[in-house]
Amino acid sequence: GAAQPVIVAIDGPAGTGKSSTSKAVATQLGLSYLDTGAQYRAITWWMVTNAIDVDDPSAIAAVAGKPEIVSGTDPANPTITVDGVDVSAPIRTQEVSSRVSAVSAVPEVRARITELQRAVAAGAEGGIVVEGRDIGTTVLPDADLKIFLTASAEARAARRNGELKGADVNATREALIKRDAADSSRKTSPLAKADDAVEVDTTELTLTQVIECVVTLVEEKRAGK
Ligand code: DC
Repeated sequence: GAAQPVIVAIDGPAGTGKSSTSKAVATQLGLSYLDTGAQYRAITWWMVTNAIDVDDPSAIAAVAGKPEIVSGTDPANPTITVDGVDVSAPIRTQEVSSRVSAVSAVPEVRARITELQRAVAAGAEGGIVVEGRDIGTTVLPDADLKIFLTASAEARAARRNGELKGADVNATREALIKRDAADSSRKTSPLAKADDAVEVDTTELTLTQVIECVVTLVEEKRAGK
């Protein structure tokens, strides 16, 4: 039936429209929403704020269990707090973006955050859209639908630049390529397409078209249940 809870995993590199698509799909279908990148950014923000050496994986591992991270799951108002402090804005700074790959590569960090993600998904009674890098492969391998979004490096840099007003597009592209390479090559659950994921190349698509495409895929899944 149409009201069956459904778990949707949306993975892919930065700048593919993952967050905008995931929030819109969740809103249109009345599902909860979880931004797992925000969780990795939040733990990175805590490491930076507490002067942990992010180039030292053992220093990161030693304190990975300390910060308490809580994610809201309303797609219209996705909140995130660390030890009760709203960090929605500071987790988007260049300082955090440039360090998040190193922090999120540490196995103890991934184990901790993965546990949080599974608890949120299990608690979302009406179903949920979970976006990230390893959701379909590792966090929720039994998701009802797995989407893998891609786009050319040029398209991704141009989109990200539209968000960062006045930034240099070449610098943005280099930073994105560097972060994707790090996220794809790490040992523990790298950015990867699950074998049973539907790949959607968004290079030539508008955001509205990508949202429609994913909504249709979810509705087809639900109808087939
Ligand atoms: O989606 P984002 O750009 O906000 O993600 C920030 C970083 O977090 C990304 O560079 C890699 C990491 N990440 C991860 O390792 N696994 C996830 N499921 C989501 C994000």
